[in-house]
Amino acid sequence: MGRLNNLCKKMIGFYRGDPARIQHFLKVHSFAKLIGEEESLDEKTLYILEAASYVHDIGIRPSLEKYGKENGSLQEKEGPAEAEKMMKELGFDKEIIERVSYLVGHHHTYTDINGMDYQILVEADFLVNYFENQMDRETVKKSVKKIFRTETGKHLAEEMFFPEEFVMSETWAQDGLQELDDFIESQGIYIRQ
Ligand SMILES: [Fe+2]
Repeated sequence: MGRLNNLCKKMIGFYRGDPARIQHFLKVHSFAKLIGEEESLDEKTLYILEAASYVHDIGIRPSLEKYGKENGSLQEKEGPAEAEKMMKELGFDKEIIERVSYLVGHHHTYTDINGMDYQILVEADFLVNYFENQMDRETVKKSVKKIFRTETGKHLAEEMFFPEEFVMSETWAQDGLQELDDFIESQGIYIRQ
């Protein structure tokens, strides 16, 4: 736990002065952890997922510095080396660093998702981006259908973006009274004189 918190704090420092980016990865981490735990990931995979969600967007800053712009592919190009450097300094195991930097380098690629850590990182990032980019309901629905695989991820998306609407009919009050009448009658309760 200590090392993950250190990584989180390092990332906050990395994006100091940019609360939107900081809050972005904190939200992605939170969703990823929730999904990972609910989907019963083993300890190591969950650990990798948590580390990856903190650093997944680490490539944005070096992309902006080098090219004056950032997009998915520049981030994937610049991110891994930066993540490796930071995680090495904090003493993470080589194996963990390798997988996390792979995820950093692929998290904008949605074909050939291999592994639950990859899948859940993508889902958590989408859950946050749908909201932050104010995407419309239908687009969100389609994208969830296409990309989401875990039950927990799908459920979270549904709860936030397209909960089953409660449709009130025009005669709801009347219907309610009728239902009550029927109920009373079926119970054999007579309240009328
Ligand atoms: Fe992200």
